[in-house]
Amino acid sequence: MIKTPEGPVPTTAQDWNELWKARQTLRISPRDAAYWDKRAQTFGHKDTPDSYARRFLSLAEMQPDETVFDMGCGTGNLAVLLGQSGHTVLAADFSQVMLDKLEENLREAQVDSVEAMRLSWEDDWAAAGLGPDSFDVCMASRSIATDDLRSALLKLTAVARRRVCITLATGVSPRVDGRLMGRLGIQVPQSMDAVYALAILSDEGYLPKLTYINTKRNDRFASFDEAMEHFTGMVDMAMRDAINAPDRDEALRRLRVWLDDNVLPDGDGLTVRNPRDVDWAFVWWDK
Ligand SMILES: C[S@@+](CC[C@H](N)C(=O)[O-])C[C@H]1O[C@@H](n2cnc3c(N)ncnc32)[C@H](O)[C@@H]1O
Repeated sequence: MIKTPEGPVPTTAQDWNELWKARQTLRISPRDAAYWDKRAQTFGHKDTPDSYARRFLSLAEMQPDETVFDMGCGTGNLAVLLGQSGHTVLAADFSQVMLDKLEENLREAQVDSVEAMRLSWEDDWAAAGLGPDSFDVCMASRSIATDDLRSALLKLTAVARRRVCITLATGVSPRVDGRLMGRLGIQVPQSMDAVYALAILSDEGYLPKLTYINTKRNDRFASFDEAMEHFTGMVDMAMRDAINAPDRDEALRRLRVWLDDNVLPDGDGLTVRNPRDVDWAFVWWDK
């Protein structure tokens, strides 16, 4: 870091990585495998509309027959599509329940060119058999939740032969509706994850490029009470991270008023008036 009158300024990949690590300590949501095992039960289309996965793969500019390493594959939103397009894929995740669901989805789609592997960002990848240049393209879609961002980016780069593609969060956490929190008077810090990745990669001599993938989240509920419970959980998550938070009772009172105005009948359930935008930063670089 260079010392300036305004404070230290990061100049190297290591500096940016230290800032990333410091920021990770402020994150409120759990990030262990047990948390993701639980989320695997409901993880799927709602979290990854087909259009997101298709956009991701089109930005990756996949060439026919290219092999792929999909790190943090979850239930296989990318891996299944890749397998259906004839690619050979190694799909890795540290959550066994995610991998079980992936296998189920592969069977359902009758895809047999995708292999599942239990692996975490923190593991020794060489010991797990992932040598240099093992796959044409390496991907990490919305899955870089590690303390050591530089190590994660370099591990992916080492394994890739042609290109690496990742997505990172923008704005407030994707689990939180920033628009609604603003209405409730809860100021949640914006995330700038891609900035760290761009700085680290540039300093390592790569030419990372950036674009965005927009998705719409349209939550559905069986009842008003279920909607209230869902958004109360979101308020609690956001308030722990808030810069200035009103008291919880006041936030929940405002939430109920907002839901009264914004929850609409939809088929045999309920939905929120305007789907919310979740934008993902898509960063890619070539070897
Ligand atoms: C939001 S999901 C994304 C799944 C999939 N890539 C997609 O875009 O639909 C994040 C995934 O990253 C995995 N993950 C999170 N931290 C990880 C870690 N430290 N090592 C390996 N996988 C991790 C989770 O288990 C989960 O499956």
